[in-house]
Amino acid sequence: MRDRVLSLSLRTWLTTLAFCLGISRITPAQTGSSDGISLPTELRVQAPGWWPTKGDRGRDEYAGSAACAKCHAEKAATYQTTAMAHAASRATASQILHEHNPLNLRIGRYGYRVETSDEKSVLKISDDKASASETLLWAIGVGHMGQTYLYEQNGSFYESHLSFFSEPHALDITPGQARSMPQTLEDAAGRRLSSDETQRCFGCHTTAATAKNQFDPGNLFTGVTCEGCHGPGGSHVALAHSGEPTPGLILNPARFNRVDGVDFCGACHRTWEDVVIGGLTGVGVFNVRFAPYRLENSKCWKKGDERITCVACHDPHRPLVRDAASYDSRCLACHIVSPDKKRTASHPGGACPVSASKCVSCHMTAVEPPNLHSVFTDHWIRVVRKGAPYPD
Ligand code: HEC
Ligand code: HEC
Ligand code: HEC
Ligand code: HEC
Ligand code: HEC
Ligand code: HEC
Ligand code: HEC
Repeated sequence: MRDRVLSLSLRTWLTTLAFCLGISRITPAQTGSSDGISLPTELRVQAPGWWPTKGDRGRDEYAGSAACAKCHAEKAATYQTTAMAHAASRATASQILHEHNPLNLRIGRYGYRVETSDEKSVLKISDDKASASETLLWAIGVGHMGQTYLYEQNGSFYESHLSFFSEPHALDITPGQARSMPQTLEDAAGRRLSSDETQRCFGCHTTAATAKNQFDPGNLFTGVTCEGCHGPGGSHVALAHSGEPTPGLILNPARFNRVDGVDFCGACHRTWEDVVIGGLTGVGVFNVRFAPYRLENSKCWKKGDERITCVACHDPHRPLVRDAASYDSRCLACHIVSPDKKRTASHPGGACPVSASKCVSCHMTAVEPPNLHSVFTDHWIRVVRKGAPYPD
C-alpha cells in the first residue's frame, strides 16, 4: 500500500508536467502511467488527452454513432444490442415505463404512481393531506437490474426515491437512498443531486452531456456511444471519407497495457484506485459491483500477465455472454487442464483438481448485496470455500 501512495505522488507530478505540455489529439490521457499501477479516474480526466467521462471536447467534434455505422457496420449493429448503448434514455422513451404503465406502490403513508405516455412521464405522490407531481425527464439504466428516474426542479436534478427493479418487476427504494420514512412529500419524491453528482451520473450513462467543460444535457447522446469510449470522431470520419489513414485521430484501446486497459473501463466501472480512495474497501459485498477492483485482487492478476484484462472476457461491442462454458477458453489460456501436465511460460496457472469446464460457475460466484435486488459476478477469481468470509 505504501509504495502505491509514493508512486501516486510521482504520478501526480508527471501529470502536471504533461498538462503543461498541452496535447489535443485523441491520444489517451497523458498521465505518464507506465509503472503498472491503477490510477484514480480523477487524475486521468485532469490530464491532457482523451479519457471516457471527460467533458473537455466541443460538442461539434462528435460525429454521432450513425456516422460510425457507415464504415464499421458490424460493430455498430452488435453494439446497438448491448446494455451500455442503452444506459440511459428519455423517460418517455423508456420501454420499462411503457410496459408497466401505470406503476403503483404504497410505502407507509405515501402512495406513488408513475404514468407514462409518448409525450410525458409523470410521478404522482400523495399522502392523506396533499399530493405533488414531478415530470420525469430521464430513465437511467437499461433495466437489466433496475432503472432510476431523474427530474428537474429550480435548476437542480433530483434522483427518484423509487426505482424500477427487474426482479421482482416492481418499484422499490433506490439503492443508496435512505430507507427510513421520508418526512415530507418532497423527500418522498426524490433526492436532490449536487451539480457534481449530476454531471458524473450523466458522464457514465450518456455521452457528451458535458462539452467544453460545460454541462448541457440538452445536447447529449443517450447511452454510452462509440465516441463515449473512442473519443470524439469528427476528424477521423472526415479524413476516413477521403480515404486517408487517420493516425492519432481516434483512440484504439487495443494498444493499452493491461493496467491502462482496465482503468479505461474503470472510468465508469471504477478503477482499483477509485475504490480504494473512495473508501469502498472493507464495506463487504457492496464492492462486488466494481469489477476492476475485484479482478485486480485475484492471484491470476497479480503475476503481471498482460493477457488478463476486461476485454479478454468481454467484447464491449457485444452483449454480455451468459453461457458459463464460453469463458473456459479464457481461463485455459493460462491454466493447464490436468494435473499431469506441466506449467509453462504460456500456462503459468495450475490445474483444477475438481473440474475441467464451466470454471466461472465455481470461481467467479454470484453475489447479491442487500436491497439491490440484483446478482453480481464476483470478479475476484479464487477458490470460494463454503462459509468463508467475503474478502473485501
Ligand atoms: C468513412 C469510413 C469511416 C467512418 C465513418 C468511421 N471510420 Fe473508423 N476507421 C475507418 C478506417 C478505414 C479505419 C482504419 C484506418 C485508420 O486507422 O484510419 C478506421 C479505424 C478505426 C479505429 C481504429 C483506429 C486505430 O488507430 O487502430 C477505431 C477505434 C475507429 N475507426 C472508430 C470509429 C468511430 C468511433 C467512428 C465514428 C465516430 C468511426 N470510426 C467512423 C473508417 C471509418
Ligand atoms: C462511459 C462509461 C463506461 C465505460 C467507459 C465502460 N462502461 Fe461498461 N457499462 C457502463 C454502464 C453505465 C453500464 C450499465 C448499463 C445499463 O445496464 O444500463 C455498463 C455495463 C457493462 C456491462 C454489463 C452489460 C449487461 O448486459 O448487463 C459490461 C459487461 C460492461 N459494461 C463492460 C465494459 C467494458 C469491458 C468496458 C471497457 C472496455 C466498459 N464496460 C467501459 C458504462 C461504461
Ligand atoms: C462512475 C460512473 C457511474 C456513475 C457516476 C453512475 N453510474 Fe450508474 N452504473 C454505472 C455502471 C458501470 C453500471 C453497471 C454496473 C453496476 O451495476 O454497478 C451502472 C448501473 C446502474 C443502474 C443499473 C442498470 C441496469 O441495467 O440494471 C442504474 C439504475 C444506475 N446505474 C443509475 C445511476 C444513476 C441514477 C446515477 C446518478 C445519479 C448513476 N447511476 C451514476 C456507472 C455509473
Ligand atoms: C465501452 C467502450 C467501447 C464502446 C462503447 C465502443 N468501443 Fe470500440 N473498442 C473498445 C475497446 C476496448 C477496443 C479494443 C478491443 C480489444 O483490445 O480487443 C475497441 C476497438 C474498436 C475498433 C478497432 C478494432 C480493431 O480491430 O483494432 C473499432 C474499429 C471500434 N472499436 C469501433 C467502435 C464502434 C464503431 C463503436 C460504436 C458502435 C464502438 N467501437 C464502441 C471499446 C469500446
Ligand atoms: C492471464 C492468465 C490467467 C487467466 C486468464 C486466469 N488465470 Fe487463474 N491464475 C493465474 C495465475 C498465474 C495464478 C497463480 C498461480 C499460482 O500461484 O500457482 C492463478 C490462480 C488461480 C486460482 C487459485 C487462486 C487462489 O486463491 O489460490 C484459481 C482458482 C484460478 N486462478 C482460476 C481461474 C479461472 C477460473 C479463470 C477464468 C475465469 C482464470 N483463473 C483465469 C493466471 C490466470
Ligand atoms: C476471466 C473472465 C472475466 C474477466 C477478465 C472480466 N469479466 Fe466481467 N464477467 C465475467 C463473467 C463470467 C460474468 C457473468 C456473466 C453471466 O452473467 O453469466 C461477468 C459479468 C460482468 C458484468 C455484469 C454484472 C455482473 O457483475 O454480473 C460486468 C459489468 C462486468 N462483467 C464487467 C467487467 C469489467 C469492467 C472487467 C474488467 C475489470 C471484467 N468484467 C473482467 C467474466 C469476466
Ligand atoms: C464445480 C466447481 C468447480 C469448477 C467447475 C472448477 N473448479 Fe477449480 N476448484 C474448485 C474447488 C472446490 C477447488 C479447491 C480444491 C481443493 O483445494 O481441494 C478448485 C481449485 C482450483 C485451482 C487451485 C488449484 C491449486 O492447486 O491450488 C485452480 C487453479 C482452479 N481450480 C482452476 C479452475 C479452472 C481453470 C476451471 C475450469 C477449467 C475450474 N477450476 C473449474 C471447484 C471448481
